[in-house]
Amino acid sequence: MKSAEPIMQLISVSKEYGGETPFLALDKVSLAIGEGELISIIGPSGSGKSTMLHLLGCLDKPTGGEIYLAGKAVSKMNERQLAGARREMIGFVFQAFNLVPTLTVWKNVELPLMIKGIEPRLRREIVERNLAAVDLIDKANSVPSQLSGGQKQRVAIARALAGEPKILLADEPTGNLDSKSSAEIIQFIIGLCRKRGITVIFVTHDQRVAEQTDRVIRIMDGKVESDVGKGNGERAEGTGRNGATRKAR
Ligand SMILES: Nc1ncnc2c1ncn2[C@@H]1O[C@H](COP(=O)(O)OP(=O)(O)OP(=O)(O)O)[C@@H](O)[C@H]1O
Ligand SMILES: [Mg+2]
Repeated sequence: MKSAEPIMQLISVSKEYGGETPFLALDKVSLAIGEGELISIIGPSGSGKSTMLHLLGCLDKPTGGEIYLAGKAVSKMNERQLAGARREMIGFVFQAFNLVPTLTVWKNVELPLMIKGIEPRLRREIVERNLAAVDLIDKANSVPSQLSGGQKQRVAIARALAGEPKILLADEPTGNLDSKSSAEIIQFIIGLCRKRGITVIFVTHDQRVAEQTDRVIRIMDGKVESDVGKGNGERAEGTGRNGATRKAR
């Protein structure tokens, strides 16, 4: 499933926030992300994790360096092209769920498909398939306030996956959940994305989440401090899906 060209590449990417005292939140970060990789980004509060995820998701632009999305330089895209690339390629799951409170579960998942201009019959099919995938068909007519935290996050996952993204970005997706719901959410994301070959990048504080990913990128003061497990044989023992077999050798 891996293609030779990275699905996403950061070349010496920096992000400086402006204002009275400018702050360098990312400092010349270079990374290549392969198709289908399952990655976690860890690091202390304020180290630049969300900043990096926002840049990866083209929600924000770097102040230095270049980001390539499927081989295309992001800095060369205009706003319209950028919005298109985001819509076609990237799905987001946030800590705070970000559901529309007045819409039902069904409508929350359907909304981005309507914006995309997908016709009603196909829309119906896609919504149904993705709600079934997160086991929420029976809550289709509920509104978010009637759901538990874990259920809300499952709606957000269904919504993100309904857009058939190539890359799923998740910023602390279990930050508002108890440990049982967290484990369940992670299982849904990992299971569904593996099955569909979607690249997943989690930002997490949770060591247990990081342990389930193939590659762990640790950020410290805006720099990559370590990058363990990228598919080149330097996977750490006990981390990632091949950890157990490697350990046994
Ligand atoms: N809009 C902004 N303007 C100025 N500084 C910012 C802005 N956003 C973030 N920063 C600063 O950039 C640094 C990195 O922030 P970022 O949100 O990426 O951290 P993080 O690693 O996600 O932290 P956390 O784990 O607490 O979410 C922090 O020092 C933060 O104060
Ligand atoms: Mg953050």
